[in-house]
Amino acid sequence: PATISLAVIPGDGIGPEVTAEAVKVLEKATAAGSVTFELTEYELGAEHWLATGETLPDATLEAIKQHDAILFGAVGAAPGDTAIPSGLIERELLLKLRFSLDHYVNLRPSRLYPGVESPLGNPGEVDFIVVREGTEGPYAGNGGVLREGTPQEIATEVSLNTAHGVERVVRDAFRRASARPRRKLTLVHKHNVLVNAGRLWKRTVEKVAEEFPEVTHDYLHVDAATIFMVSDPSRFDVIVTDNLFGDIITDLAAAITGGIGLAASGNLNMDRTYPSMFEPVHGSAPDIAGQQKADPTAAILSAALMLRHLGFEAEAGRVEDAVAADIAARTGARRSTAEVGDAIAAAVS
Ligand code: NAD
Ligand code: IPM
Ligand code: MN
Repeated sequence: PATISLAVIPGDGIGPEVTAEAVKVLEKATAAGSVTFELTEYELGAEHWLATGETLPDATLEAIKQHDAILFGAVGAAPGDTAIPSGLIERELLLKLRFSLDHYVNLRPSRLYPGVESPLGNPGEVDFIVVREGTEGPYAGNGGVLREGTPQEIATEVSLNTAHGVERVVRDAFRRASARPRRKLTLVHKHNVLVNAGRLWKRTVEKVAEEFPEVTHDYLHVDAATIFMVSDPSRFDVIVTDNLFGDIITDLAAAITGGIGLAASGNLNMDRTYPSMFEPVHGSAPDIAGQQKADPTAAILSAALMLRHLGFEAEAGRVEDAVAADIAARTGARRSTAEVGDAIAAAVS
C-alpha cells in the first residue's frame, strides 16, 4: 500500500477544531489499508507568531516542501488583537505557501447538496467549480505607498498577469470543463475597465479554446456574474477567473450553497513540483472559536479533494458520499464540531 506523507497545519481559531475532524474522517476512509497517511503537524499561525515572532521560517518551508500534500485549517488573528499587524499571518504564511509552492490552480467546487437550504428561493441544480488563479493578480504584492499619512498619499496594488500564469490556469479550467458532462467554461473578468489584463485573459481563452472544441465558452463581467450567481446559478459549470475576483465570488458561491461551513478548496500545483494544499474556504472564525460550534464539513470535503488529487478516487468518493448522507439527514439540531465529524466518519463505508 502507498504511504502519503502529509503536513498538517491546523492554524488558529476554529482551524484546529475542524482539522481534527478532517483527519478523523481521512483515517476512517483509508482504514482499509489502500493507503497510509503519515502525519506531521506544524505549529504555525497567529499564536505561534505571538510566541516566537515567526510566520514561516525558511527551514519550515523547506520541510513542508518535502511532504506529498498539506492539510491546512485556517489562520488569522481575532479582531481587536492589535498585537498582530492586520493580515500579517495571512500574507506571510498562507499566501507565502500558495506562492512558494506554485499553487496556480485554486479549485473551489460549489454544489448544492440535497437537503441543504439555500437562501435563494428557487436555486435549481447548482453544481459548478471555480478555477481561481492562485499565484498572481493583485495578490502578488506589487505596489506601494507614497507620502503615507499625508493628504497627498498615493496607495497602489498592481495586479500581475503573465501570459504563462494565465495560460496554465485557463488550460487547466478547459481540461476540467472537458471532463464534466456540461462542458461549459465561463471566463469572469472585467475587461471593460481592466483592459490590459482583461485583453490577456480573453485572448488566452480564445486561443486555448481551440484545443478544446468540445467545450463551449462564454464571458461575464464580474459584476454581472454576481447577479447570475444569485438569479440563475445553474447556468455555471466551470468558471475561470483571477485571484481577487475568485476570492470574492467563491464566498458568494458558498453562501448560495449552504454557507461557508460547507465550502472546500484545493490549492493545486498541477505540475507536482511541490505539494498541493487543501483547506476550507473559511477563515479562523474568531467569533465562534474554541466552542465546538464550527461546521467541520468544509475541512472534511477539502480532505476529499486531497484524496482525489492524490489519485485515491474511491476513497474521495466514500468521504463525499458520507458527507452527502450526513447533510441529507441534518435536522437543524445543534451538534458539536466533533459530533459532526464522528457522524461523517461513521457514515464512511
Ligand atoms: P471567516 O470565514 O473566519 O468567518 C466569517 C463568518 O463565517 C463568521 O461569522 C464565522 O463564524 C462563520 N464561519 C466561518 N467558518 C465557519 C464554520 N466552519 N462553521 C460555522 N461558521 C463558520 O472570515 P472573517 O471573519 O472575514 O475572517 C476571520 C479571520 O480569518 C481573519 O483574520 C481573516 O483574515 C482570516 N481568514 C483566513 C482564511 C484562511 O486561513 N484560509 C480565510 C479567510 C479569512
Ligand atoms: C481565502 C482567504 C484568503 C484569500 C486570505 C485569508 C488571504 O480569503 O482563502 O479565500 O484572500 O485568498
Ligand atoms: Mn476568501
